[in-house]
Amino acid sequence: MLLYLDAADTTALEPLLATGLFRGVTTNPLILQRGGVRLPAVPDLVGWLLAHGSREVFVQTTAHDVDAVVREGHDLRALSDRLVVKVPATAEGLAATRRLADDGVPVLVTAVYHPRQAVLAAAAGARWIAPYLGRMTESGRDGHALVAQMVRVLAGTGTGTLVASVRTPDDVVTLAEAGADAVTLAPDVARGLFAEPLTDAAVAQFDAAAAALA
Ligand code: G3P
Repeated sequence: MLLYLDAADTTALEPLLATGLFRGVTTNPLILQRGGVRLPAVPDLVGWLLAHGSREVFVQTTAHDVDAVVREGHDLRALSDRLVVKVPATAEGLAATRRLADDGVPVLVTAVYHPRQAVLAAAAGARWIAPYLGRMTESGRDGHALVAQMVRVLAGTGTGTLVASVRTPDDVVTLAEAGADAVTLAPDVARGLFAEPLTDAAVAQFDAAAAALA
């Protein structure tokens, strides 16, 4: 399973990217706002991320009209060939995705809540869909069951499942078992993946034994 970070706060991102375990960084306007990054600063952010261990960066379009989304997608992709364009799963967004995909631009269709949107994203030639697991569950749906269904729907299509809105490190394990291709994690959830008190206790024992052997 590929791991991505869902953030624009470079202070939080830097140590996590430095581990080398995270393939890249995903953003959207909400995440930019949370990270205090205004739209004109996005090219600088993309440059910083690529220079600090992010092998891919995902940036979302903000337009609604199909032609405008396609133009914005091309402008974003011009920033780097390691940039994936994110487009919301609206009817216009899916039409724009089809055109961008035909032009060779990799697209992630985002804010996906239902397997039928996975079918549409695959038909649009999307590289990825991003189901919002936490939000699905919080709205009363069975988020994990829906994501597992999306994974089955997309098998063999060339469109992968990159799950966003992930609330806990345990969700990551459940998603990996369900065959999700990737997750994108807020920094606190990503840090939680590493936390294991029994490992810390074992390391303390190793240290004590090593000190006694010196
Ligand atoms: O990238 C996913 C996203 O912005 C939604 O996450 O935590 O607001 O549900 P959240």
